[in-house]
Amino acid sequence: MITREHLNVIIITSDLQLANKLENLVHLIDGVVFIDHFNNAEHALERIREGDIDIVISDLELPDINGVKLTEIIRRDFPNTQVIVISKEEDYNTMLAVMRNGAADYLTHEANLEELSVAIMRAQDLATSTRGAGQPYPQVDTKKTSGVAEGADSSLGKIITVYSPKGGTGVTTLAINLAIALRGEESEVGLVDTSVQFGDVPILLNELPSFSVLDLVSRVHVLDPRIVEGSMLFHKSSGLYILAAPPKPELAEKVVGRDISQILEFMRSMFSFVVVNTSTYITEPCLAALDSGDVVLLITTQEVSAVRNTRLFFELCDGLGIQKDKIFLVINRYNEKIKITSEQISESVEHPVFATVPLDEPNALQAANLGIPFTLQAKETEIAQSVKSLGEELCEELSNPDIMSRKRIFSPT
Ligand SMILES: Nc1ncnc2c1ncn2[C@@H]1O[C@H](COP(=O)(O)OP(=O)(O)O)[C@@H](O)[C@H]1O
Ligand SMILES: [Mg+2]
Repeated sequence: MITREHLNVIIITSDLQLANKLENLVHLIDGVVFIDHFNNAEHALERIREGDIDIVISDLELPDINGVKLTEIIRRDFPNTQVIVISKEEDYNTMLAVMRNGAADYLTHEANLEELSVAIMRAQDLATSTRGAGQPYPQVDTKKTSGVAEGADSSLGKIITVYSPKGGTGVTTLAINLAIALRGEESEVGLVDTSVQFGDVPILLNELPSFSVLDLVSRVHVLDPRIVEGSMLFHKSSGLYILAAPPKPELAEKVVGRDISQILEFMRSMFSFVVVNTSTYITEPCLAALDSGDVVLLITTQEVSAVRNTRLFFELCDGLGIQKDKIFLVINRYNEKIKITSEQISESVEHPVFATVPLDEPNALQAANLGIPFTLQAKETEIAQSVKSLGEELCEELSNPDIMSRKRIFSPT
């Protein structure tokens, strides 16, 4: 536990002007004490070794090693010290690399007081949660009698992320229907909407949620099954628990990748399956969902543009750190009459096709209009049956223990 009232901060950069700016900003933040400035990593590491440094603000470019490597060393050797990396230019790949190595945040040299304060608060949250590990969760007074909360146990549930690099291919439709298909007497299912800007899962279920993922974001380090269940919508007719996206698009930016990872990882203890709906655009929450997924159901259709985007997505996977062997390709709206065949798609994207779901405009449309998924109101149709067997085949794949031992980008700290 932190016994001091304040956080000790050091700054590492060979750029004196930057060092001065950061020092001045740090002086303006309550509860933070500036300890020293170092020109290089080597001298800074000597100081960190003394054991009382809580936060390191490090330049990406240093004379001896770069900030990506330094983050790795600090997080490995000094787990009580958090790192904020700041770089001249904003670069997505660098951000991924430093976050993957355990940095608390990534800023640019232009960072202002507010941005630095938020980063320091994040680092502090992480520091507190790491040091306080093993402590009981705070008691929360919820009047709701628990369903999943009471049954929560440590046998880990599986995360299934449904994604498509092309909009309108049926991600949300399949995520909802798959979640319903996976639900059984012994298996509770959570459905999480990480399409944080225009999430539409509740609408397709004719529901209006009172809570959303935002209610969990501020508590990601002290999650409790009751808090999580209390933030979810229980959809009676399907028995699904749904974590909705924020109620307004402008609130989307309040949800970051690490929050989604922590929430999804926590939900493993509450549900047998967590099905995740995503946005087409690869935002941080979407990337976190792709990363956390034990499997990714990649949805495409027999359209040239969808196949092209699917191929581009596979090319992107290496850069994003997503293993291709956890990706299961599904062709939705499948129609044998269309000239592009399943084999051609597979050849074009160099990946096997795992399943197809038939085109069925009337049932899909009716389900959307009524707000009742076809796996509930048209169980015997071919479209519903195909999603059911997709669920069964996935369960079989997920029983393979290798699937659970993968490296995560936003690994929970
Ligand atoms: N197999 C299918 N056959 C016919 N229509 C479908 C099928 N799957 C989805 N749709 C329809 O396609 C539209 C887009 O689906 P949606 O799930 O919202 O896509 P996404 O989430 O990928 O943007 C919806 O109107 C939905 O009802
Ligand atoms: Mg959608």
